[in-house]
Amino acid sequence: MCGIFGVVGTKDNASKLVFAGLKDIEYRGYDSWGISFFTDNRFKTLKKIGFLPKSLNLVSSTLSIGHTRWATHGGVTDENAHPHMDCTNKLTLVHNGIFENYLELKNTLKNHKFKSQTDTEVIIHLIEEQLKSQPLAEAVATVFNKLQGLNAVVVSDGKDIVACKIGSPLVVGRTKNGFIIASDPNAILQHTSELIFLEDGQQVILNSSLELFDLKTSAEIKPQFTKVKWEYAGENLKDFPHFMLKEIYEQPQVLYNQIQNLENIENIAQEIKKAFGTYFIGCGSAGYACILGEYLFSQITKKHVNFALGSEFNYTEHFLTDKSLLIAISQSGETIDIVEPVSSAMKKGVKVVALTNTLGSTLYRMSDIKMMLQAGPEKAVASTKALLAMIANILLLSFAVAGKLKEGVDVIEKSVKEIESILQKKDLIQKLAIKIHKVRHIYVLGRGLSYPVALESALKIKEVSYIHAEGLAGGELKHGPIALIEKGTPVIVYVPDDETKGAILANAMEVKARGAYIIGVAAENNQLYDYFFQVSDCRASSVLPNIVFAQFLGYFLATKLGYNPDKPRNLAKSVTVK
Ligand code: AGP
Repeated sequence: MCGIFGVVGTKDNASKLVFAGLKDIEYRGYDSWGISFFTDNRFKTLKKIGFLPKSLNLVSSTLSIGHTRWATHGGVTDENAHPHMDCTNKLTLVHNGIFENYLELKNTLKNHKFKSQTDTEVIIHLIEEQLKSQPLAEAVATVFNKLQGLNAVVVSDGKDIVACKIGSPLVVGRTKNGFIIASDPNAILQHTSELIFLEDGQQVILNSSLELFDLKTSAEIKPQFTKVKWEYAGENLKDFPHFMLKEIYEQPQVLYNQIQNLENIENIAQEIKKAFGTYFIGCGSAGYACILGEYLFSQITKKHVNFALGSEFNYTEHFLTDKSLLIAISQSGETIDIVEPVSSAMKKGVKVVALTNTLGSTLYRMSDIKMMLQAGPEKAVASTKALLAMIANILLLSFAVAGKLKEGVDVIEKSVKEIESILQKKDLIQKLAIKIHKVRHIYVLGRGLSYPVALESALKIKEVSYIHAEGLAGGELKHGPIALIEKGTPVIVYVPDDETKGAILANAMEVKARGAYIIGVAAENNQLYDYFFQVSDCRASSVLPNIVFAQFLGYFLATKLGYNPDKPRNLAKSVTVK
């Protein structure tokens, strides 16, 4: 998703800092970028499609704002990249979010010349118009209050930086030379740990000082800087070729981190016991972790918990009451499909637990109970270590609610050992990737706990290799998808030593009979398998090493096909628009 980085201060390195800041947020995914820097009493703007170059000599300036764009309104072109300028070229603006009523307001701007097809450019021309009757900060506030949707806007006239936000994150850092404003706190941390997380409906004015206002009432707000204690996680690939591979290798340590401090697990387990209905919500991989939660709680605790995909929850949450408990899971803590349903649930008095990997994120700050995944910054778009941390916490919660937390710790420890052995056998998975990398379709079958594993495995494959992959409940094959099986179609089958074994092997036979190439991921080999990958039984936590198999397969398919698994096309690390 889009990223914002701006600097105003006394040193003339603002544009260089902005460029470095954009490099720090490029992992979030984008397709074009741009920088405005104020020099010789006017703005200069550089806008480009594609990835940021490693270094860029920029002129000296004491004020600069920059942006990485993930296209929503208008195609991927230089003209549509931010920053955008007004007709006088004296104002510059960057924007995250979607300005839903932009066409209606664009029609009020009769004599303005537009260079792009974006909703964003309309905002800067509205401000230019408003400046005829108000000074900059008031003009920006008047215009921002007219915008419908969830937006963050950063504007400058070369003297001040003025910013407003609703529903899209903005953080301000105070340095000894001035201020930095960004959409991602991690990008500021190498400069300062003194931060202010802007709240929805606030406006900030930055120059040699900082002023904070309420957008609706214009009342001044006393700025409270927080000194955060988390270190900057820069580009530290170490000797790995990609962040995705590095983060796969970090998983044993990440899982070990989950079983160090269990106080939070016990507390949340109490909340689950007290609640009248517990609902897990997540998107993408986090959503599959929530589905897994339903199976784990049923099997381990004999308790029904509900799950919903974040983007669908608004359509099925009419029954929530102030006795409900909502457990919202999000690596970034900025996914709008999570932030929005959480916000509406809180209006009903629902207690919200946030399980997130990003300290200070929107979800983290808005929730009643905050639980950090402690997976360390996850830079690859494809979630690996954060997802395993999510699953480990859900698994521990289910054991804790059943009063068997020690058993939960034991099964996690067992899975850590199994994952460490898979890390040693990754070449076997690479060989499989080389064998099947030319296929156009891959199917993944699982039953019970392995069904959400099948969904996650398919996601890992498709999102980095662009091969169509579909995760299926084994029993669903006969209800349609088996029509797609042809000779040589690769079908991955998860066969843990649990109650699903017989039935899932029957499903494997059904597709084998129709020519499929069977990839068996199991504790023991079977003559059904054309390719066998051994994963020892870890009971409920077998799901963890099974997912690691799919992570490696996706990774090796992508690299064999020549793609960069860290920056898959069209995808972003944090989906902050609907
Ligand atoms: C996972 O590999 C994907 N990158 C994606 O599905 C991701 O899990 C989803 O967008 C949710 O992100 P979040 O955990 O930051 O909310």
